[in-house]
Amino acid sequence: MPEIFINGQAIEARDDQTVMQVAREHGIYIPYFCWHPHLSVVGNCRMCLVEVEGRGLDISCNMPVSKGMKVFTDSEEVQAHRKAILQFITLNHPVDCGICDKAGECMLQDYHYEYSGQRSLSHDAKVRSTKYYNLSNRILLDNERCILCLRCTRFTHEISKSMALGVERRGDVSNIRPVEDRPLGEDPYSDNIVDICPVGALQSRQFLYKTRVWYLEPTRSVCPRCSRGCNIQVWHRKQEWQLKALDPKQNDSIARITPFENPEVNGPWICNVGRDLSQVLERARAEEPMLKGRPVSLAAALDEARRIISSARHPVALVSNWGSNEELGSFKQHLGEVFHSYVKEDWRAEPGERIEDDLLIRADKNANTARARELFGTAEPHFPEGTDVVLVWGEGFDFAQIPPRAKIIFLNSYLQPENGHADVFFPVSTQLERHGSYTNFEGKVSPFEPCFAKRDTVVDAEALFKSLAAPMRGHL
Ligand code: SF4
Ligand code: SF4
Ligand code: FES
Repeated sequence: MPEIFINGQAIEARDDQTVMQVAREHGIYIPYFCWHPHLSVVGNCRMCLVEVEGRGLDISCNMPVSKGMKVFTDSEEVQAHRKAILQFITLNHPVDCGICDKAGECMLQDYHYEYSGQRSLSHDAKVRSTKYYNLSNRILLDNERCILCLRCTRFTHEISKSMALGVERRGDVSNIRPVEDRPLGEDPYSDNIVDICPVGALQSRQFLYKTRVWYLEPTRSVCPRCSRGCNIQVWHRKQEWQLKALDPKQNDSIARITPFENPEVNGPWICNVGRDLSQVLERARAEEPMLKGRPVSLAAALDEARRIISSARHPVALVSNWGSNEELGSFKQHLGEVFHSYVKEDWRAEPGERIEDDLLIRADKNANTARARELFGTAEPHFPEGTDVVLVWGEGFDFAQIPPRAKIIFLNSYLQPENGHADVFFPVSTQLERHGSYTNFEGKVSPFEPCFAKRDTVVDAEALFKSLAAPMRGHL
């Protein structure tokens, strides 16, 4: 274990570490652009330079530690060179922060204010480049903003393995470009490059000019679209920036989805399906309890469901594998003895969707099959002779399979034709409206938090199951 000194502080380092890694581990910040903890080192931006006694200036991201080395991360010489590097990096940069989606979370903007603050020293015209290059149907590239850190190309070579991006030409006309016959649009992880681009060169079409990031805040959540259960952040408008007149719908809608880094589940990445969660979670909502398609009060729906359950002789339940650990536990505790229960598959792969790979994507397109099967077994849903009541929780089941004379109690979050066919229908909350957790295929439990309020007529399944089992009349 070599002992090194950073800014006078003695630190025990490991032989295989770089100065950048040791500094970060000990809370000493060295600025960087091209370095990324999950990508190989290219050392091309020079932003991370430090001074080493007796050796002068060099980049810390590619500097192995050696016994007794004395590193200075903020000496006068380092400060002066950082300023010069920022001058160089912004030489042809358009500095169009006013219209750039990255503003507010841009490393170049932050470093300029932290380490330079100088106006451009150059009087020459900036070299112009492509402003809107169509990289795929999801991502636009602004070559003028690109600082050629090569994080995006390395991502496609080292992480997603699509090899979809490369660099064309040299010098001040170098451009990131798609590699012929390797379309970025076919890379199911492509949008991660928007996150890791340190500047606003890569722009998500979904998020383009939608809002400024300082109006938003993230809520921790879990992607339910496969059994990996990637940890995510759901970005939505902050309370203090709620819109009153302009477009109030924006207050309760998903602005974007980004990864929440969890080394045990998804690392720092998610797939594009996870980014598109609003297409699933923001479908038209079911908001009213119904008896055979007729809207009723929650109390009336509860009474009728209790009556049906208490008079059933052979009730069957199809349990949702999108149910949270807490909801599944509640069903088991309160209704597990009442129903013959089977785990139902709520969601299947959509046309064109990648089924499975070695990075994250799993063939089971449901969030909580692991916990559901643990509690309710692995038998395929079926209806024994005499089934007279069927409780269907969640989507994905063909009602035509239900025995013709059986009563149906249905729990669903979205507006669907089946809702009106049920004898009793309960609109239930989505994961954006309640606390909970999912267990992924490896048994890792990930929590999610609410970010939007649910309507009064929408129920939480966890409480509903308890209430359905209550022997006396009662309300949720
Ligand atoms: S597009 Fe972004 S990530 Fe890619 S090289 Fe340019 S600055 Fe780096
Ligand atoms: S890999 Fe699965 S859980 Fe992760 S973001 Fe994609 S669909 Fe969601
Ligand atoms: S971060 Fe070290 S050279 Fe770019």
